Amino acid sequence: MKLRVTGINHQTAPVKIREKAAVSPEKLPVALANLQNYVPHGIILSTCNRTEIYTVESDAADVKKAGLSFLHEKVGIHEDNLNNYIYQFKEKKVVEHLFRVVSGLESMVLGEYEILGQARFALEKAENCGMANLPLRQLFNCAIGTGRKVRSETGISRNALSVSSVAVDFAADILGDLSNCKMLIIGTGQAGKLVARIAEERGMRDITIASRTQERASQLAGILQGRPVSLEHLHDELQRADIIITCAGAPHWLLGKTAMQNVMQHRHKTPLVIIDIALPRNVEPEVAEIAGIHLYNIDDLNRISDKNRQQREFEILHAENIIRREIEEFSTWWQQFQVRPVVSALMSRAEQIRLNQFNRTLKKLPQLTDEQVESLDAMTRSIVNKILKDPVQYLKTNESSDQIKAVKEIFKLEADSRP
Ligand SMILES: NC(=O)c1ccc[n+]([C@@H]2O[C@H](COP(=O)([O-])OP(=O)(O)OC[C@H]3O[C@@H](n4cnc5c(N)ncnc54)[C@H](OP(=O)(O)O)[C@@H]3O)[C@@H](O)[C@H]2O)c1
Repeated sequence: MKLRVTGINHQTAPVKIREKAAVSPEKLPVALANLQNYVPHGIILSTCNRTEIYTVESDAADVKKAGLSFLHEKVGIHEDNLNNYIYQFKEKKVVEHLFRVVSGLESMVLGEYEILGQARFALEKAENCGMANLPLRQLFNCAIGTGRKVRSETGISRNALSVSSVAVDFAADILGDLSNCKMLIIGTGQAGKLVARIAEERGMRDITIASRTQERASQLAGILQGRPVSLEHLHDELQRADIIITCAGAPHWLLGKTAMQNVMQHRHKTPLVIIDIALPRNVEPEVAEIAGIHLYNIDDLNRISDKNRQQREFEILHAENIIRREIEEFSTWWQQFQVRPVVSALMSRAEQIRLNQFNRTLKKLPQLTDEQVESLDAMTRSIVNKILKDPVQYLKTNESSDQIKAVKEIFKLEADSRP
């Protein structure tokens, strides 16, 4: 049985490719059902930084290409071209990769907390759809445990940034003092709430919140003493704002070129900064062509996130030491999990032989007392256990498929004694 991950992330693909692979939280159950067409068990981890497919392959099902086929269908570009953007890891590399991802080491914003919740969410959805089997569950639970440990035992997440906070800081880099700027936030999910909180912390007093669900906009605006607005009545707000941060989980553009051209005609050349951190993007890329609009997307935030990474370089080493230890622990579990079926098949075969021989011998012997039968039983058990001790220990420390196969052949074990 082999672990495999196939993925696309912010280091391998630009936003215009990544957004095609992205699976929104709402669509995850449908995407998992789709993945099940390729493989019986799998977990999809999709965030603004990455979409990754974790699978396990057994000898019975050849699912090497499941993740690739899923991404290929989702992104809709030829497999040869897709290969330029994706990565695949197998076995121990998968464990290392996921432990680093959930620890925030592979995030665009180093040490961000959001990935912990996103990994939990991915596991929970896969479990609900019956797609998370024992090895995948164990892999994700250990990764989440490692992510927590890294954050509590290192300074990687001290004063942690997030994509949302980086977006606000990016705006401050462009506009200078934000306190007199008017901000419009589109989206009131996790990302939108964080943008709003950070904007308030940075001294912004004029914040408008827009959301598909009016009630959510009102709730968040209430906390900030901002103004709520529905998506249908955005036009006036688009004219007023100095800066717009878009972070709605919509699968389509919320701000298109024609609408924004119209807005700009009413702004009398007042410039407008738009930072679109949504994935898929909320703003049509051609909006950047409109005079007076400065449009940025999530990939443009690298400048600030790189600085954050440099400041935490030392903590990365510390985190990597913890990850190494945790990988060892997982590997021990994995080894035992791999050999468990063959060990149990070996033990039951030996027990079957012992019992047959034991009963045959009993029939040939004169009537024994219960005590004599018990001591004969204990003696034969002990012989079998002593003979099997070394092969079992060998299996537990050498779990390669060749060795498992050899033991199965030597002892004529059931063909399907695999995990
Ligand atoms: N979470 C993060 O750390 C993070 C960081 C960077 C970027 N992002 C990006 O930000 C976006 C939102 O992420 P999130 O974590 O905040 O998600 P979330 O907590 O699930 O919230 C999703 C938000 O998007 C809105 N929405 C969903 N479908 C919509 C549609 N068809 N039209 C208009 N609005 C819609 C929801 O409105 P309702 O309230 O009406 O459902 C809600 O406000 C995603 O594109 C994500 O990739 C997230």
